[in-house]
Amino acid sequence: MNRSYHLVKLIAFFLLSALAFTQTNPRRKKSTSEGAVCPLSLSQVQKSVEAFDKIADVFLLEPRCFNCHGGVNPYFEGIAPQRGSGPYTSPHAHGGGKMDPPVEDPYTGKITSKGTDCESCHDDMAPKTNGSPSKWRMPEGDDRFLGEDERSLCRHMKSTFQEIKDFIGHLKDDNGIDNFVGTAFKGNRGLTASAQEKSFKLEPPARVTHAGLIGLGNNWGASTGGEFKGDTECGCAEPDPPRYAIRLSQSNIISLAGIQRTTIMKPVDIPITFEDDGSFTGDADAAYESSGSGAGCAQQSTIRSKLHVSGQATEQYQKNFMHLELEYQSPLAGTFSLECPDDPNGNSSVQANFPMMNLKAFFDLQGKSSELINRNDDSTPGIISNMSLQIIDLNNPPR
Ligand code: HEC
Ligand code: HEC
Repeated sequence: MNRSYHLVKLIAFFLLSALAFTQTNPRRKKSTSEGAVCPLSLSQVQKSVEAFDKIADVFLLEPRCFNCHGGVNPYFEGIAPQRGSGPYTSPHAHGGGKMDPPVEDPYTGKITSKGTDCESCHDDMAPKTNGSPSKWRMPEGDDRFLGEDERSLCRHMKSTFQEIKDFIGHLKDDNGIDNFVGTAFKGNRGLTASAQEKSFKLEPPARVTHAGLIGLGNNWGASTGGEFKGDTECGCAEPDPPRYAIRLSQSNIISLAGIQRTTIMKPVDIPITFEDDGSFTGDADAAYESSGSGAGCAQQSTIRSKLHVSGQATEQYQKNFMHLELEYQSPLAGTFSLECPDDPNGNSSVQANFPMMNLKAFFDLQGKSSELINRNDDSTPGIISNMSLQIIDLNNPPR
């Protein structure tokens, strides 16, 4: 018993040395939020989707917004025909008839003809915030809302505006550029008196006031803690709520003082859930299987440990940090068996629990899906340890 007791102690010591990776990731740097983990709680995702749906109703259903964003194509007589590849056609004819589009030289990119001057009719717009006149323009292809639904429009907004304050700024006064939103709320389509037909009426958006629309924007921001979080999908996608796990695997090979020993922990996914403040936790069980020989005996063991992860993710524009703590929770439960051919008295089978101090390893990641940390440690002669830790997007696991 004496001998196996010593061996067990030795095993425990080496095993723990293998577990105790403490790591600080030097790649803590600024980046965009592309691929970032979505650090929202389930209730935040729901609130975000609900809050954006109200905004989408304004964008898609209010003619004062939608007609400029794909509802009217003034470069055609009547309703625009379906475009080559595009499945959508503008549903309304232009009140002023067919306009000549600006013409661009395909080789030089220079504008060779400015096309119809929209301002001959659309010249009564809300001024820019600095007081200078706004200019009536059509949005470029990607800025159209035509053919979009609430979900795609949400992703569109998150990829166009990096931060919620830019989005709100757009709803206020197009961030000081041509004041389209202000003009929409005037309700006059920017038309000068002479261009207004007899039937002309002021028709501002009916669903909300301008202040009300800004309020909807603020509500959307508040639903995710006052900032856009995660990648463009985050807070937009349904019905799949974001789901992540930390995938952990380890191995440890000891070849020292007559002892040979290999310990392997196969990959374990530790599912994590986020709270409203971006903190997260998760739990899983892990088994460390080892086999080896030493002191004339062959030896096998399994140690089971409860893994607990916790941490905090900040996934905002140019602020991608995910701090993670991995804890091996006490007690470790182990079974050991020894077979000693030269000394049958040494054969034994031991079950033991190891009380442990809180053993923790720390990781600083950016918090990107599939982000991987591989650690190899051979700093102690005779011991080689490997650890691999990866962020897994369970809706989109790496292959
Ligand atoms: C005169 C046409 C016009 C009207 C009316 C108009 N917009 Fe726009 N909008 C534009 C143009 C042009 C852009 C492209 C950005 C720029 O150049 O400022 C744009 C950009 C946007 C964007 C940024 C999206 C992107 O992909 O760039 C949002 C959001 C938006 N508009 C919302 C609205 C809402 C909401 C209304 C109604 C309250 C509205 N717009 C009314 C012309 C218009
Ligand atoms: C001859 C006058 C005239 C000219 C020039 C003109 N428009 Fe219009 N436009 C109108 C009238 C009239 C309406 C319909 C207003 C209404 O809904 O009653 C209109 C409506 C629109 C709308 C829909 C706005 C809304 O809120 O429903 C868009 C978009 C538009 N025009 C774009 C353009 C563009 C782009 C140009 C320049 C290439 C242009 N227009 C030039 C007369 C004109």
